[in-house]
Amino acid sequence: LSVDASSQNGRTIPDKMFGIFFEELNHAGAGGLWAELVSNRGFEAGGINTPSNIDPWLIIGDESNIIVETDRSSCFASNPIALRMEVLCGATGTNACPSGGVGIYNPGYWGMNIEKTKVYKVSMYIRSSDSVDLAVSLTSSDGLQNLATHTITAEKGDFAGWTKVEFDLQSSERNTNSRLQLTTTKNGIIWFDQVSVMPSDTYMGHGFRKDLATMLANLKPRFLKFPGGNYVMGNYLLNAFRWSETIGPWEERPGHFNDVWNYWTDDGLGFFEFLQLAEDLDACPVWVINDGASLNEQIPSATIAAFVKEVVDGIEFARGDPKTTWGSVRAAMGHPEPFPLYYISVGNQECSKPYYKEKYVKFYSAIKASYPDIKIISSCDISSISAVNPADLYDVHVYTSSGDMFSKTRMFDSTPRSGPKAFVSEYAVTGNDAGRGTLVAALAEAAFLIGLERNSDVVEMASCAPLFVNDNDRGFSPDAIVFNSWQHYGCPNYWMLHFFKDSSGATLHPLTIQVSNYDQLAASALTWQNSNDGNTYLKIKVVNFGNKAVNLNIAVAGLENGIQEFGSIKTVLTSGWLRDENSFQQPDKVVPAASPITNAGEQMGVIVDPYSLTSFDLLL
Ligand code: AHR
Repeated sequence: LSVDASSQNGRTIPDKMFGIFFEELNHAGAGGLWAELVSNRGFEAGGINTPSNIDPWLIIGDESNIIVETDRSSCFASNPIALRMEVLCGATGTNACPSGGVGIYNPGYWGMNIEKTKVYKVSMYIRSSDSVDLAVSLTSSDGLQNLATHTITAEKGDFAGWTKVEFDLQSSERNTNSRLQLTTTKNGIIWFDQVSVMPSDTYMGHGFRKDLATMLANLKPRFLKFPGGNYVMGNYLLNAFRWSETIGPWEERPGHFNDVWNYWTDDGLGFFEFLQLAEDLDACPVWVINDGASLNEQIPSATIAAFVKEVVDGIEFARGDPKTTWGSVRAAMGHPEPFPLYYISVGNQECSKPYYKEKYVKFYSAIKASYPDIKIISSCDISSISAVNPADLYDVHVYTSSGDMFSKTRMFDSTPRSGPKAFVSEYAVTGNDAGRGTLVAALAEAAFLIGLERNSDVVEMASCAPLFVNDNDRGFSPDAIVFNSWQHYGCPNYWMLHFFKDSSGATLHPLTIQVSNYDQLAASALTWQNSNDGNTYLKIKVVNFGNKAVNLNIAVAGLENGIQEFGSIKTVLTSGWLRDENSFQQPDKVVPAASPITNAGEQMGVIVDPYSLTSFDLLL
């Protein structure tokens, strides 16, 4: 394996080369990255008609003691449903309520993770013309173990109008499968709406579940593509992600049914929060817009103006001065500085759909007229892009078997070197050999990414799909990060991405690799500077997709000062068995292992393990 590491023969990899793609599927956001513990907090999951769907809220007590219904009496016009709880027991001189009280409970998203001594911020809206004596408790899933309680008491008339009540709960114990209870032993009628429980320690205080956001931050993503995928489109436009309905005070957001992936989302993770997440990750936001189409409907181009305006308004929300109409809304949400939104992707996988190209041009012209510095990404491939159908980038999605993904390390070798750049915004090994995230899938994807590095003169950005899965709702498998309410682990391909986290903006060097009678290797070499310690490294990555250990002689030419004797590290991702996966029981079965390189130099002999990804990080 020879590397020409001279600076004059190096080429800079685009500085936004590797990022992440977040789609609201598999409960990635609701019940995942968005830390809200209450599911269906506004009782709106059935839509605006009554009876609405209060799932997963359930009733404590029987029909003789309590009646629970939904009505449209909320104080929030955009989400009118409220829950009416009529307590029949507990009137003076009649049947007493059971000692634990009657009421309702919410188990969250497959159980709330309540941690010992952690503070949880509770808020809810209450209305009642009676006096109120309500216990708000965090309990075990059967209600028998009490973890924390706050009692809300009010005189008759105090809650005659809708009243927001806020307080903290601090648990005395840990319970990973908890629920929130609202109970009383007092006769009367109480209405509830917008009941929320948020952990107090979210990532950067912005509402993201800390462990999951940290997993993302550790990848050092250079961009964040959001919010989908097919989620952007919806099966029907009625259920599509429409940015303006996901901003403002969380209580006023209507929420919507994610009909592609089949669950309700309260839209706590809305447009503003996606932009905030990008900022918190030091990643550049890439917004995939709804271009007036769902998976089953297409608005004709003649009547697309309202959608175009919606998008231009959305850009003003992200970037506009606080004095502008939409910029002022962002500022009121606590972010007067603009968000650096410079990438817009028009639709998702739609090039062949009716009207797409005509509509695309309207979006393109309107966005460029106001924001010429925004790069626009087309759903069409490079062959369809022309002066009349212009684009800065074109979107590529690759879902295939591991063998085919490995061979796609050459996918862009013969792409025309001029014209728009590729954005490989979704790629994944799928099918049998992908399992729930196997080593072989990670190795094939690594080889594919090495091919993208080599072709980074025509490929500008890349992100894997999908990113997250809540283990309780696997709508799409495999995924890079698996979690439930309290645990998480990275699949082998999550750890594989760590081998590429220093590539964006690095210098790629010419590399040749030759092993006789063996074509199962893919390799790249780059130099990058560690901003923490100022050290520069030559990183040589090698995928061995085959079952043989390979002896390689690495020869590095063109270095001004050679390679340091100490400080070089070899990192290997393998477990030896292609089908190995990580799991909650064995989260570290397939994770990178690092060791010092004792023979580091411009000439060095190394052994590359079968079925492995190896990085040789040579200190210069
Ligand atoms: O990543 C899952 C889905 O696959 C996305 O929603 C869609 O864009 C693709 O087909």
